[in-house]
Amino acid sequence: MSNKMWGGRFAAGPDAIMQEINASIGFDKRLYAEDIAGSRAHARMLAEIGVLTEEDRNAIFSGLETIRGEIENGTFKFSEELEDIHMNIESRLRDLIGDAGARLHTARSRNDQIALDFRLYVRESTDMLIAQIRGLQKILVARASAEAESVMPGFTHLQSAQPVTMGHHLLAYVEMLDRDAGRLADARVRMNECPLGAAALAGTSFPIDRHMTAGELGFDRPTANSLDSVADRDFALEVLAAAAISAMHLSRLAEELVIWSSAQFRFVSMSDGFSTGSSIMPQKRNPDAAELVRAKIGRIAGAFQSLLMVMKGLPMTYGKDMQEDKEVTFDALSAFSLSLAAMTGMIRDMSFNREVMKTAAGSGFATATDLADFLVRELNMPFRDAHHVTGTLVAMAEKKGCALDGLTLEEFKIVDDRIDSRVFGVLTVDKSVASRTAYGGTAPNNVRDQVARWQERLGV
Ligand code: ARG
Repeated sequence: MSNKMWGGRFAAGPDAIMQEINASIGFDKRLYAEDIAGSRAHARMLAEIGVLTEEDRNAIFSGLETIRGEIENGTFKFSEELEDIHMNIESRLRDLIGDAGARLHTARSRNDQIALDFRLYVRESTDMLIAQIRGLQKILVARASAEAESVMPGFTHLQSAQPVTMGHHLLAYVEMLDRDAGRLADARVRMNECPLGAAALAGTSFPIDRHMTAGELGFDRPTANSLDSVADRDFALEVLAAAAISAMHLSRLAEELVIWSSAQFRFVSMSDGFSTGSSIMPQKRNPDAAELVRAKIGRIAGAFQSLLMVMKGLPMTYGKDMQEDKEVTFDALSAFSLSLAAMTGMIRDMSFNREVMKTAAGSGFATATDLADFLVRELNMPFRDAHHVTGTLVAMAEKKGCALDGLTLEEFKIVDDRIDSRVFGVLTVDKSVASRTAYGGTAPNNVRDQVARWQERLGV
């Protein structure tokens, strides 16, 4: 039997493999609410311009509500033969209300329909993701506020570099996440034009009111070019790219949680709720959630790459290739959402081991730069010379097996006899971080200022 939606010119139905490769209902059924919203707006507008009677429109409205109910309570029979969500819903609508249902597709095509449905889905996901990023920022700011004075080693090359405060470190991620949210918000602005009414590709001869449907569906305006409307998926690419960049940030934070929660570091303890045990090693507490967040970037960045390759080289306008946009996007956006939720939970529930962090901050001659700065400031030594003198003192301390503040004044004086006892005032990690007061630095007071700025911006 030929297809009842488009089979007018076909004598035979599709091969089973044809049907399998062609059908998208298995994954686009997820767009049912967007499809119904688009159909409602379209029907309302068609009635407004007199293409549908009010009775037809009302029948369409109630038929669509029945269908929504059937889908939500699990009684709707999805059919692969009907290919996709659009034809599954339209076919059921005809069963329910007859001819009125068959009139709904006037001045519309599945090409503008899917462009609309997918855009609505991506737009809603974008809003949700931005809200989730804000939630994670709030948790980070709250934790940063409590750790404004907690000293930890700051790293470059994963080698102890200079002491920093944990509050400052956490706020670094708040900054990154803010740019991530900004990228999503920018993408949303460009995305927010309505493709409905572009029809198959050339627009329609019916006197439709595209401003009306655009307004009803929350868009700023209708898209201006019918070909572009059905041909592009750059709105999804932008969101995937922004998600991939943000997932990269999450991956780095996740990696730090993995390192920090290891027995060798013990800077943090993950909560029971976000740790797992080992089936063989009873002592283990594994940071599985952090590891999974570290890994999710793979499928998120992969989705961006995948869709970019699908779109590359496609001639105008719609090609069935574009049906491949959905699965990767659905998967990536839900993986990103789950990563944000897991990261928010981990950060909220973990505890900081301040003493351990502080001890670590003092190891590895982390205040060597403070010593060199002291020599420059107090002895007017050129920085390059101060660097050399400090290097000699570090070597001395290393030989003696102590930290820099374990050297005696006599020992300092062997290297340069202008050094006096004030040197001990700059060698502790607390003094070191407290001195980093220039804007953007790690001093506890700076952290408190930044926490206040973020609390205001995030409305907490
Ligand atoms: N299932 C299709 C998709 O996801 C809907 C659009 C189909 N249009 C067409 N002319 N066959 O892209």
